[in-house]
Amino acid sequence: MSFRNIFNRTLPWVQSPLIANAPMSGAALSELAIAVSRAGGLGQIGFLDDMHELSNELQVARDKLQDLMATLPDPQVLPIGVGVIVFGSPMEAWMRLFKTHKPAVVWLSFAATNQLQQWTEGIRQASPKTQVWVQLGSVKAALDVAQACHPDALVLQGSDAGGHGHQDGASIVSLVPEVTDTLLQHGISDIPLIAAGGIVDGRGTTAALSLGASGVVMGTRFLSAPETRIPRIYRDAIFKASDGGQATARSRVFDEMWGPNFWPKTYDGRCLRNKVYDRYVSGEDINQIRKWLSSAMNEPGAESLDVHDMGSLWAGTGVGMVNTMQMAGDIVRTVRDDVRKGIGSLVGEY
Ligand SMILES: Cc1cc2nc3c(=O)[nH]c(=O)nc-3n(C[C@H](O)[C@H](O)[C@H](O)COP(=O)(O)O)c2cc1C
Repeated sequence: MSFRNIFNRTLPWVQSPLIANAPMSGAALSELAIAVSRAGGLGQIGFLDDMHELSNELQVARDKLQDLMATLPDPQVLPIGVGVIVFGSPMEAWMRLFKTHKPAVVWLSFAATNQLQQWTEGIRQASPKTQVWVQLGSVKAALDVAQACHPDALVLQGSDAGGHGHQDGASIVSLVPEVTDTLLQHGISDIPLIAAGGIVDGRGTTAALSLGASGVVMGTRFLSAPETRIPRIYRDAIFKASDGGQATARSRVFDEMWGPNFWPKTYDGRCLRNKVYDRYVSGEDINQIRKWLSSAMNEPGAESLDVHDMGSLWAGTGVGMVNTMQMAGDIVRTVRDDVRKGIGSLVGEY
């Protein structure tokens, strides 16, 4: 089965189908990004609000990927992506960073269309070889951003996704084909669509490709990789969780449990379900919940909490299929091989 690699020109080290790790804030650092890009995927570093730390991570990636970079048409371009949570981020400082490090992809998320337009134009000036990808979660947002920014790819984030996303979302099963149709109706057929949300293996990836995606992004699956920087208790909770629709929940309470929520109203997030969420949906006032949480954390003899209750453990509905530790490069290779075998068997070539 031969695959057409539509990223041949723009991301020449990437093998088909494109598999990227999500730029998970604080968890996806250079170690993960390097491993994923080395395996022929798109490795990405997640948002960090400490620009100095981020610059160091990018420099580590540059130092360690010298051999791969030497094989690319433009050896100055860093073969990884960098995620930006746009709202509240100081644009000028980021543009300086992109000018210096020239990442292959800048992934923008969580902002209004006019902000995304400013950022897209800024990035194209600061680092013309950098691809601009925008993650969003609705048909309207996809059309608005396609028309206003004409990004190099649109990442369509379905409601199964772990982490923050559109509060009123749909799964990729309807989101990807409806966006495809809508863009076509408006004469736009040259922006690749990448699917994210609930994809953890070759089956999910094959499904996403058949819906019209040109590649996939996985966050939750990469939480199993030792290169992803999360505490061991978080990874263990991921491995233990099963039945993703029950074990995880979408809510704004995960950003409200410790204090005011600075996220715009359109966004909530999917986490491992916890006692805070259960109290919230049963109608308890958020201030009451915070008081309970604080006393449970600090007072000896108070109700015992487990790891789910003490923080927001972001995870998607695919969590039930993420059960064992696997090196990031092996995840990329396994998923890619499974897709090739699976699609081959579907069309009768294997
Ligand atoms: C732990 C975690 C952190 C995340 N952080 C970010 C982030 O900083 N920026 C972003 O655009 N998306 C973030 N996401 C969402 C991902 O980009 C992506 O949409 C999601 O992981 C896809 O769904 P999946 O987790 O089911 O694979 C995060 C997801 C997870 C699980």
